[in-house]
Amino acid sequence: MEGIVPLSVPRCQEDKQQSDRCSMSKDKSGQSSSQKPDLLYNAAIAASEVRKLFTSGTTGPSRQTQKEVDMNKKQVLEFINVNPIFHLATVDGDTPHVRGMLLYRADEHGIVFNTGKIKDLYRQLAVNPKVEMCFSNGIFENLIQVRIAGTVKPLEDLDLKKEIVQKRDFLKPWVDKVGYEQLAVYVMTDGVATVWTMATNTEPKRFVKL
Ligand SMILES: Cc1cc2nc3c(=O)[nH]c(=O)nc-3n(C[C@H](O)[C@H](O)[C@H](O)COP(=O)(O)O)c2cc1C
Repeated sequence: MEGIVPLSVPRCQEDKQQSDRCSMSKDKSGQSSSQKPDLLYNAAIAASEVRKLFTSGTTGPSRQTQKEVDMNKKQVLEFINVNPIFHLATVDGDTPHVRGMLLYRADEHGIVFNTGKIKDLYRQLAVNPKVEMCFSNGIFENLIQVRIAGTVKPLEDLDLKKEIVQKRDFLKPWVDKVGYEQLAVYVMTDGVATVWTMATNTEPKRFVKL
């Protein structure tokens, strides 16, 4: 194909060569990626093509179109679960703040993350729960960025807190000392996502309701 590989490259399961690659790779959290979404493979597969596109300055019809890189709700959720490190922006009066965060999970019930009640982040969310999350695949040759804006709600769910601490055992010594009460968990259920890619850099934003 001249130019660039569309994002709808063959699924892992449908392509033997790709399947071998998938079964060997690991995601950032060390999990097996055999069930990873198309977009992740796509990023790797399209990388050399994208590099060509950007180094040659091609702007013709072979560029990916917005339609080709569009994600639906399911794909957005898959993307952020596979790329769980994100940056979270809050507002404090007229001052913006942004910091690195680690997604706990994202599914039909919302996007869940945690922090500590001792943090400025907690204080800011108590006053203004409107946030924007910024996720990226971190693949230089084919960057994909997903931003999600919405309002977060605190979740005082002890079972969920216990589950989080069990999976994130670095939190355990701190929780043992201060108690689960100090762990703050949030969910965003009304998010609106927008996807950016190198190939659609200058195209108008499209929004996906989550
Ligand atoms: C990649 C990355 C992931 C992080 N994940 C979390 C997290 O899930 N929860 C958290 O409270 N802090 C996390 N941190 C640390 C926060 O960025 C840091 O505590 C920050 O100071 C919190 O914001 P604040 O200073 O406005 O309170 C993470 C940092 C990095 C670099």
